[in-house]
Amino acid sequence: MVFADVPARLAGVVLGLAVLTLATIAGCAVFRPDEPQVPSRELERGAELYGAHCQACHGGATGGSMMDIPPPHNAEGHTWHHPDCQLVEVVLSGSGEMGEMMRRMMRVPESAPRMPAFGGTLSDDDVVAILAYVKTWWTAEQRAAQAQVTRQRC
Ligand code: HEC
Repeated sequence: MVFADVPARLAGVVLGLAVLTLATIAGCAVFRPDEPQVPSRELERGAELYGAHCQACHGGATGGSMMDIPPPHNAEGHTWHHPDCQLVEVVLSGSGEMGEMMRRMMRVPESAPRMPAFGGTLSDDDVVAILAYVKTWWTAEQRAAQAQVTRQRC
């Protein structure tokens, strides 16, 4: 009798594990919809491009403050306040209206460096990879807020 129960129990355990796994996967999908699902190869490319073209002015994953010029792109900065389309535009076209407005608001001296235009150097895909990399520095709340702003404004 006892032995006859074993396969049934085993089946129960296997089924239980399968349900648990599915529940975990579903839970992640449901409760963290704004977590970036970016392939690691794209993040690596973004990191390389960022290191080559952006890091010298904007710094890395930590440090800096909201008031710095150039602004840090990490969780201390305000990059996450802007929707994707605006970020891409600034990178491809340079400082522009938004940059000038920030400079006036923050009374930045004329001599401080400006955001160069990368339209001739980087492709749209390059910029998307760079932004995906930068987003890994933000908190989950910042990512969610920025995804929301992007949905509303792009
Ligand atoms: C020569 C220094 C310099 C380099 C190099 C540079 N930036 Fe900037 N960037 C700035 C400055 C300064 C600003 C603030 C706007 C202004 O004053 O022109 C800025 C603003 C920005 C902004 C808008 C503000 C924000 O945080 O949302 C983004 C996005 C940005 N840069 C991304 C990049 C990326 C991506 C690269 C590399 C491909 C890069 N920058 C390279 C100096 C630089």
